[in-house]
Amino acid sequence: MNSKELAKLASSARELAYAPYSKYKVGAALLTDDGKTYTGCNVENASYGMSMCAERVALYKAVSVGHQSIHSIALSLSGSGSPCGACRQVLHEFNPSMVVYLADETGRIHHETTLNMLLPHAFGPENLD
Ligand code: THU
Repeated sequence: MNSKELAKLASSARELAYAPYSKYKVGAALLTDDGKTYTGCNVENASYGMSMCAERVALYKAVSVGHQSIHSIALSLSGSGSPCGACRQVLHEFNPSMVVYLADETGRIHHETTLNMLLPHAFGPENLD
């Protein structure tokens, strides 16, 4: 699975977003170190604060079936959007060096970065040792 294919998966996942309130659809696709992919979309709620981001849906799917080694994540969203602070923190837990691809609605990648770049000086598991 290459980055372009991962971003296409994110774009397809975006189609499934449930975002009737913000109308801002997000799709995510993550790649584990052993080559598995997991997708997610944002799922909003009439009680707005209960809404969940696409990244965390994808991550929790992976972790909940036993995959904790995450190589990269692709996001499909509009404009210059990038992972929110909460998602940066949650993703950091599983790989601070994770590669992050930002793609448009069609899955065209326009930006590549890492979680370390997005969340410098993060609080992580090692701080609890
Ligand atoms: N959203 C995500 O799914 N991921 C992000 O990193 C940014 C925001 C969602 C949450 C909400 O459903 C909508 O986008 C607008 O904030």
